[in-house]
Amino acid sequence: MASSYNVTIHWHGVRQMNTAWADGPEFITQCPIQPGGSYTYRFTISGQEGTLWWHAHSSWVRATVYGAIIIHPREGLLYPFPKPDRESVVILGEWWDANPVDVLREATRTGGGPNVSDAYTINGQPGDLYKCSSKDTVKVQVDSGQTSLIRVINAALNQQLFFAIANHNLTVVGAEASYVKPFTTRTLMLGPGQTTDVLIKADQAPARYYIAARAYASGQGVPFDNTTTTAILEYKNTTSKPIMPPLPAYNDTSAATAFTTSFKNLRKSPVPTKIDHNLFITVGLGLIPCPPKTPAQNCQAPNRTRFAASMNNVSLVLPRNSSILQAHYHGIPGVFTTDFPGQPPVTFDYTGNVSRSLWQPINGTKVYKLKYGSSVQIVLQGTSISTAENHPIHLHGYDFYILAQGFGNFNPKTDTAKFNLVDPPLRNTVSLPVKGWAVIRFVADNPGTWIMHCHLDVHIGWGLATVFVVEDGPGPKQKLEKPPPDLPVC
Ligand code: C2O
Repeated sequence: MASSYNVTIHWHGVRQMNTAWADGPEFITQCPIQPGGSYTYRFTISGQEGTLWWHAHSSWVRATVYGAIIIHPREGLLYPFPKPDRESVVILGEWWDANPVDVLREATRTGGGPNVSDAYTINGQPGDLYKCSSKDTVKVQVDSGQTSLIRVINAALNQQLFFAIANHNLTVVGAEASYVKPFTTRTLMLGPGQTTDVLIKADQAPARYYIAARAYASGQGVPFDNTTTTAILEYKNTTSKPIMPPLPAYNDTSAATAFTTSFKNLRKSPVPTKIDHNLFITVGLGLIPCPPKTPAQNCQAPNRTRFAASMNNVSLVLPRNSSILQAHYHGIPGVFTTDFPGQPPVTFDYTGNVSRSLWQPINGTKVYKLKYGSSVQIVLQGTSISTAENHPIHLHGYDFYILAQGFGNFNPKTDTAKFNLVDPPLRNTVSLPVKGWAVIRFVADNPGTWIMHCHLDVHIGWGLATVFVVEDGPGPKQKLEKPPPDLPVC
């Protein structure tokens, strides 16, 4: 079927060393591929093993355009755990009984929140708890006594999800194409963008067990889809009625935190210790008051406003006539400015009762420049402007170490003592706690223009993003490649 939408594809988590042209976010590294057009993404994967994924990075097209990327150890090399007998992929998705692009369009018109989804899915199927298609419920086969590696990906558009398999322990061995020290849990929590590899041993009575996922909804009063998607873990030749696993309550932040803070790198992490750029970035929502004559139907956020979101009070506006990468590479003026602030413009009690005068972000296409090879620390600080919630923050082009996370306002005097400088996990998406903070570090060793954004698509549209521009280094392997000849034009 012919599509009438622009599209781009992002290879989520692939480092794209020197190949930022193949990263995919529209108007950041390329102009979109128009209906009938084509573009070949060329890149190399190296130094990464495990589970990543790909998805459309244009409007809300990624609601249905996504898939897994599985990176096995190099031929002849082994996993750092006993070889599993089987491997399966479980991709969690989110479904609207409507065209998701229309759902976004409607929200853009009203200025309010978009309609919540109608279902979550596992490998495209909602499962037995919905009125449709239970005969198509996905089955994951296991054999008694054997071990399976299950690669779980949260590809939902707007929702963090809890995940469990009835009666079975999950041993986490990796996340986002990096190995972690194995730990055992009953429940996973993944924000959109995150992946988690688990081993499960088929050590229960031969029967059928539900694999289930439902929302972790951290924002008080924020509407969400409270349905549950299921697949079936099926022991060979069994037909019993599946057993349902318990899942944490929707607002169980302690369960989410217990899980996200259990990650440690499998090996010692070479964490940069001398910091060149020490950034402090607030992350949260905002409300833009409507000018007096605007019709009420276009001001459907609270008190005659429109929803917005920002980092350090800047709502990212995408350019229209060129990507930021093309503007950077060719020196096209007027596309972006380099004044994204490394600190919030005003210091306030971020997680308390924030004064209304601080609720309104400014619009801009502002980037932050990083010198090649510099080491960067970012304190991400959630705010309680309008509503506080957990935000899955994703950085393109890099993996970063997550040194620590906590609740309340980050305190540089006391919270630095909590930094794990020995074996912090290496990830590309950090779950920023509701009314809390997280600290990440990376070395800017990949030239290009890299967006960092909340992976809840509802927040991207409201501007919850910024862009790092990393300059070329002096060496021959430290430069952005030439743009490919078939790079789409705007
Ligand atoms: Cu998986 Cu910018 O996204």
